[in-house]
Amino acid sequence: MAEHRVCRLNDIALEVPKVVRLEGVGILVCRDAQNTVFAFENKCTHQDLPLHKGPWDPSTACLGCPAHGAVFSLREEGRAVVGPAVVPLELFQVRIVDEDGTPVVYVSVP
Ligand code: FES
Repeated sequence: MAEHRVCRLNDIALEVPKVVRLEGVGILVCRDAQNTVFAFENKCTHQDLPLHKGPWDPSTACLGCPAHGAVFSLREEGRAVVGPAVVPLELFQVRIVDEDGTPVVYVSVP
């Protein structure tokens, strides 16, 4: 498992998940209203379609899939709370490190 420095916490907009590429894998990084950060592959567990254009609600930390409407609860370990997806998203380990007073986001990719 390799840990990567992704960006400053403030570089992740509350309203829009950030797309990054780590080890050749497209990753979505989302920040909720409590400044909890979630990271996972930019791929729905229903039919492997990209999630980054889906609706993101920072108050509930739920992300919708734009393709067929599945909703994933990131606070519930990526659980699919609305179908058609049934398999949870696999959340990656996130660490926030204080670098000279600036919170910086690190993500571990398995
Ligand atoms: S690909 Fe996401 S709900 Fe179908």
